[in-house]
Amino acid sequence: MNTSKPRYLAPTSDGFEQAADLLRAGALVAFPTETVYGLGADARNGRAVAAIFAAKGRPSFNPLIVHLRDAATARQFCQWSDTANALASAFWPGPLSLVLPLKDDHGLSALVTAGLPTVALRVPAHPAARAVLDAFKGPVAAPSANPSGKISPTTARHVATGLGAKVDAIVDDGPCPVGVESTIVGLDGPPRLLRPGGVPAEDIERVLSCKLLSVTGGAITAPGQLVSHYAPHGRVRLNAQKAAEGEVFLGFGDMACDLNLSPTGDLAEASSTLFEYLHQLDATGKSIAVAPIPAHGLGAAINDRLQRAAAPRG
Ligand code: TXA
Ligand code: MG
Repeated sequence: MNTSKPRYLAPTSDGFEQAADLLRAGALVAFPTETVYGLGADARNGRAVAAIFAAKGRPSFNPLIVHLRDAATARQFCQWSDTANALASAFWPGPLSLVLPLKDDHGLSALVTAGLPTVALRVPAHPAARAVLDAFKGPVAAPSANPSGKISPTTARHVATGLGAKVDAIVDDGPCPVGVESTIVGLDGPPRLLRPGGVPAEDIERVLSCKLLSVTGGAITAPGQLVSHYAPHGRVRLNAQKAAEGEVFLGFGDMACDLNLSPTGDLAEASSTLFEYLHQLDATGKSIAVAPIPAHGLGAAINDRLQRAAAPRG
């Protein structure tokens, strides 16, 4: 495999069956989730999982999220808890990943967890992701389907442009509605926010009736939370009031700009347009100035991605 261009699969029962057959054969299949496109492989197949790391150029210390059909399946792989149950009941299927202690005899490839004693699990809500999981009937390891460190993919075209023939097939079901990755909560101790994402932290805290511990500014505890990430080729300048010479301007709210994340200042719209607009502005070859984005709700995830896109490389 991996000899020519990726094959596009339609979001039909035939396409989902083909995707499942390819996963069974150890191939890499990209598919849409409500957050971003994932690069899927059978999470029990070490060679297939190794191919994910190779295709993305991802460091092997950075573990993957395992995608499951439902919360009942999660108990096969991890030590479930009341807190996990509360969050799963409230937010699954949906853009939330839970990090839980691994169970003995979990059967997952050790590469998936990068040798950690924990595993990140998620039950996606996107109908195409669910249909692939239904047809495959097993755990699917899936990072975002982009080269490591680059802008995340929210369309099938982003996947094909970024990974080319390194991915065997792409289930194309249009743009991802949420547009930023899942929120990751660590439940291997007091609940910790490991990555802001598609479920606002405030909503999670309401269900838990407590504050999430924050890891921002501290040591990297989600190993993939590298400072420079989501990086366009040009420089990114944040909290800009307007474009400087040689820059393109990514706006938010009612303002003059090259592309506007949400002219009405709607954070859900802004998260759904963020990566597509970064891809488009990156293609101009210019530096990108970005308007200030409020920090509450989905704004936390948007600002997190923008700060990493703007961080010094190297
Ligand atoms: O929305 C999403 O979560 C998307 C879609 C495809 O589901 N996936 C995604 O995967 O964003 P990825 O690989 O780009 O990001 C996964 C993050 C990484 O930062 C990784 O370090 C963290 O999850 N992670 C995975 N397993 C972990 C673990 N056991 N403990 C702490 N962090 C973990
Ligand atoms: Mg990613």
